[in-house]
Amino acid sequence: MSSVVDAARARKARRIPVHRTLPRFVKDPFSVLKDVGREADGEIVRLDLGVFRPYLLTHPDHVQHVLRTNSDNYTRGGRFWRPLRGLFGDGILGEGASWEWSRRILQPVFTAKYVESLMDRIAVAVEDAVDDLARVATAGETVDAAQEMSRIVSRTAVDVLFAGRISAVDAKRVVDAVDTIGTSVVLRMSLGITSMTVPLPGDRAFRQAVRTVDEVMTPLVRQARSQPDDGDDIISLLSRAHGPDGRELTERQVRDDLVSMFVTANETTSVMMTWLFPVLQAHPRIAVRVYDEVDRVVGGGPIRGAHVGGLRYTQAVLDELLRLYPAAWVFPRHVLRTDVIDGVRIRGGSTVLVTPLVTHRLERFWERPEDFEPERFLAERHARLHRYAYFPFGGGPHQCIGKYFFLVKALMIVASVLRRFRPRLLSTTIPEPVVAASFRPGPGIAMTLTPVQRRLAA
Ligand code: HEM
Repeated sequence: MSSVVDAARARKARRIPVHRTLPRFVKDPFSVLKDVGREADGEIVRLDLGVFRPYLLTHPDHVQHVLRTNSDNYTRGGRFWRPLRGLFGDGILGEGASWEWSRRILQPVFTAKYVESLMDRIAVAVEDAVDDLARVATAGETVDAAQEMSRIVSRTAVDVLFAGRISAVDAKRVVDAVDTIGTSVVLRMSLGITSMTVPLPGDRAFRQAVRTVDEVMTPLVRQARSQPDDGDDIISLLSRAHGPDGRELTERQVRDDLVSMFVTANETTSVMMTWLFPVLQAHPRIAVRVYDEVDRVVGGGPIRGAHVGGLRYTQAVLDELLRLYPAAWVFPRHVLRTDVIDGVRIRGGSTVLVTPLVTHRLERFWERPEDFEPERFLAERHARLHRYAYFPFGGGPHQCIGKYFFLVKALMIVASVLRRFRPRLLSTTIPEPVVAASFRPGPGIAMTLTPVQRRLAA
């Protein structure tokens, strides 16, 4: 698809002058991207945001080219990633040799086979975390869906991946700090202003939040490095790992990967799980099918690893949720060398954006793209879909390392909550997303949880 020889003759991408609507883009990039994407219908376009002019690539062939086929030329560097380096450093969320080494160290705990061996441990951790909802449910009190999902998701991640080494209070401090980071960097990212010498609102909150993350994580890293053990949790794994030079990883390297793993393990999953509740409320027919499946497969007892395979429809609901509400909604890449994609010149030094938010809604790949229809993931036609028409977990060398862990854990959380409770939201509308690094629903999703009454078998 690309050739250096062709670059001179290649045509320029059509420009879309978004700068006239820049305030709207900063406030609501989702609808601007969706509108532009609908109009472009798979064609490569260039968004003119004034100082910043990223290419928008939405056709699955083009997404595949960037994320996989020619991924060496499209790196996680440049203006979008620079502000996040202060938090994540240069490990598993970086690029090049240091990323590759981190991936090699962490990969063994995330293979499908290894996650399968963890299933019963995940199930116990999920059940324990969901137990805490029983009191408020019986008392008829309202809970905040986002807060509860975040608590359940982070507690299970801490129990299973971090061997319980982070207290609930510290986990909450980090989750809240990451929340602040996710919202405070967005203005800088959407304006494409990465030089920290240009002060912007949110900078101070960002710096304070990074300090909070370090206050929690650094003592853990020091303690684990001073007494390395043979545990299979991420902290042990990183503490006894060696770099390509045969030396132990430095404190900074362990810290960077630990923070990256904590953030990625929690943020996307809890955000995505939160959308489930308003979506089920808005689609009662689908909700009933999920309740029936959970009742049939899990029944009244605790969730176990063996149940996961039977929750086929619930899985399709999660797949569809990730289609319309992709927690990781934009993957920016820095273009190293000028390239040609489908006859369009992509300049070296520029930024390309690929976003499932648009590709997952392209009419020529999806029937009724705006409708929530889990059945599309059960049908055979899904198997015939272009691999990059649906990519909530990315693709190519940076494909999400936690995908299997997520799939198992998310199914278990849904099943564990719904086998015990019927959620009812105070509002009947699906919330609008708020602008943040992940695709989050607006705040305040209040719901009650009615305990499920089961008749005892005669
Ligand atoms: C709804 C759940 C999740 C979604 C939608 C999601 C999505 C993604 C996406 C799109 C990427 C690729 C980023 C890129 O190309 O720049 C990614 C990478 C990554 N994800 Fe996830 N993720 C989820 C859950 C998880 C979980 C549970 C973990 C860990 C336990 C995790 C760990 C990671 C890591 C470490 C990377 C970086 C991989 C690399 O660059 O080599 N993710 N994720």
